[in-house]
Amino acid sequence: MNKKEVVETILRGQSRVANNKPGVYFAPANIALCKYWGKRDLELNLPQTSSLSVSLGHLGAKTAIQEITDSAEIIDEIWINGEPEKPGTPFSKNLKNFLDLFKVTPTQAYQIKTETNIPIGAGLASSAAGFAAVVGALNDLYGWQLPLAALSILGRLGSGSASRSFWSGFVEWQMGVREDGMDSKGHALPEQWPALRVGILILNTAPKPVSSRVAMERTVLTSPFYSVWPVKQAADLRAIKAAIAAENFEILGSVAETNALAMHSLMLTATPPILYSEAATIESMHRIWKYREEGLALYFTQDAGPNLKLLFLEKDRETVSQLFPTLEIIQPFGEHNNQ
Ligand code: PMV
Repeated sequence: MNKKEVVETILRGQSRVANNKPGVYFAPANIALCKYWGKRDLELNLPQTSSLSVSLGHLGAKTAIQEITDSAEIIDEIWINGEPEKPGTPFSKNLKNFLDLFKVTPTQAYQIKTETNIPIGAGLASSAAGFAAVVGALNDLYGWQLPLAALSILGRLGSGSASRSFWSGFVEWQMGVREDGMDSKGHALPEQWPALRVGILILNTAPKPVSSRVAMERTVLTSPFYSVWPVKQAADLRAIKAAIAAENFEILGSVAETNALAMHSLMLTATPPILYSEAATIESMHRIWKYREEGLALYFTQDAGPNLKLLFLEKDRETVSQLFPTLEIIQPFGEHNNQ
């Protein structure tokens, strides 16, 4: 099955006539505590393993979408934070290809206006919130009223991690076993953890040298250790879910940290190797380990970039922000949650 066929299956019997007013949707960014790294189907973004994330509350993307009817050119228009997105960038190409999946005639075009409060260049999987917000806004524009699980499948076709950006709190993306991916979707965990904090430590905002798509594919194809990843991932996922259920922060933090380090070790053993860490990343890791030895419950996770996301509890907020004064601190279960 290809992407278009998945979209057609999900939208069978649904209206393809847009409402008069734009469709609007907010989707939160998410940070994986157990990472998604490696696809079993490149076309449908089907993962090799399940993964688990925490959504970042009010940090995310809000998208308004409408059909363009009065333009001479049939071309999608993309605006991000009030600026027109340049047509040739990889992001706008990906988004346009994604929008094409939802069109019924070649004369259809969309205008998309996205406002995002995700720190630019933080490597915060902004594509996850971005694609999820577009899917949610299309659902609103056409009045489909699809369940969140169906939106999650559609979001995954844009970016794998988008499948986790339809819920607040802890979200698991179950890998599924079906070839068409209809069982590869997110669901929310019932647990809340109001004292949990995520700190975004921005060390370099330059665009990443290797995209996560390319890096994942290379890792799966060339790392001699990749076969260990699904085994470790299954064990980590069980441990993290148990830690969430028991509110055991030390287990949550240490499993999330080793999971991220294992993912980066796989990349180091790919050919040619991929190393997202920079000197400042390594220096910060050593500092975190030293503070931990001194008794502070502070852990990190790292995505496909040099920046770190720190995990800690509200009781240590003061100490952590003194040690890392530039940290942007997020309350995933805080008062700003709007879903
Ligand atoms: O969804 P993608 O293709 O942007 O990949 C996301 C990969 C990581 O952020 C590194 C891990 C994850 O699970 O979000």
